Amino acid sequence: EQHQSTQAELSGKKVLISAGPTQERIDPVRFFTNHSSGKMGFALAEEAANLGAEVVLVTGPVSLEARNSQIKRVDVVSAAEMYEAMHDHFPSSDIVIKAAAVADYRPKQTFDEKMKKQSGNWHVEMERTQDILQSLGERKAHQFVAGFAAETTSPVEYGLNKLNKKNLDAIIINDVAAEGAGFAGDTNAVTYVNKAEDTKEITLRSKQEIAKEILLSISRDMKDEPK
Ligand code: CTP
Ligand code: CA
Repeated sequence: EQHQSTQAELSGKKVLISAGPTQERIDPVRFFTNHSSGKMGFALAEEAANLGAEVVLVTGPVSLEARNSQIKRVDVVSAAEMYEAMHDHFPSSDIVIKAAAVADYRPKQTFDEKMKKQSGNWHVEMERTQDILQSLGERKAHQFVAGFAAETTSPVEYGLNKLNKKNLDAIIINDVAAEGAGFAGDTNAVTYVNKAEDTKEITLRSKQEIAKEILLSISRDMKDEPK
């Protein structure tokens, strides 16, 4: 009984997830990016599918595969492409989880031909990308929208700021400086905080197990059940 009801926790739900880094090109051979592996986002996609959801996974460039046939994968490269893909799938989604590490800046000027080296320094001017999560928070109707916060200092304080500023239903705070947590590895430890500021510590464990706990917390919040 227990097992069955857990399996069906997200059946009938459409879950939109973003994963991985973005790449911001400056010329045909060079780009700016970050250390995101995509593992947390892919784990969320797998677990959501295991819980019965229909999943759309929008991912930046990663070396991972999504095996579940209930996961529709959409590959993007830049923050601008991720913005388009997320907004395309947003209206038909019930739950949105933004696990991607989106570049905050991109080169203001790009070049169609490879830049040749010259004597002296190269100054690259960077401009802001759009905040995808914030734009989804502003557009929100029936959707449950959750974001991640990657922090190295005062994680809960900065995380709560993001929850409020971006009009989210939950924030998953990731202290990326903590032992066993963060971008590259197979484990993580996070703090899940909902709009009412109910807080759940999900202590160090595999990204797969973290993903399941996050999804069950979201499911409970959508039904307004205590954790
Ligand atoms: N995010 C986004 N679009 C951006 C930047 C961030 O959608 N251009 C999303 C991330 O996917 C994540 C959340 O916002 O879910 C928080 O990202 P994070 O980098 O922790 O915070 P920022 O708001 O970018 O602030 P800062 O990097 O200055 O801490
Ligand atoms: Ca950022």
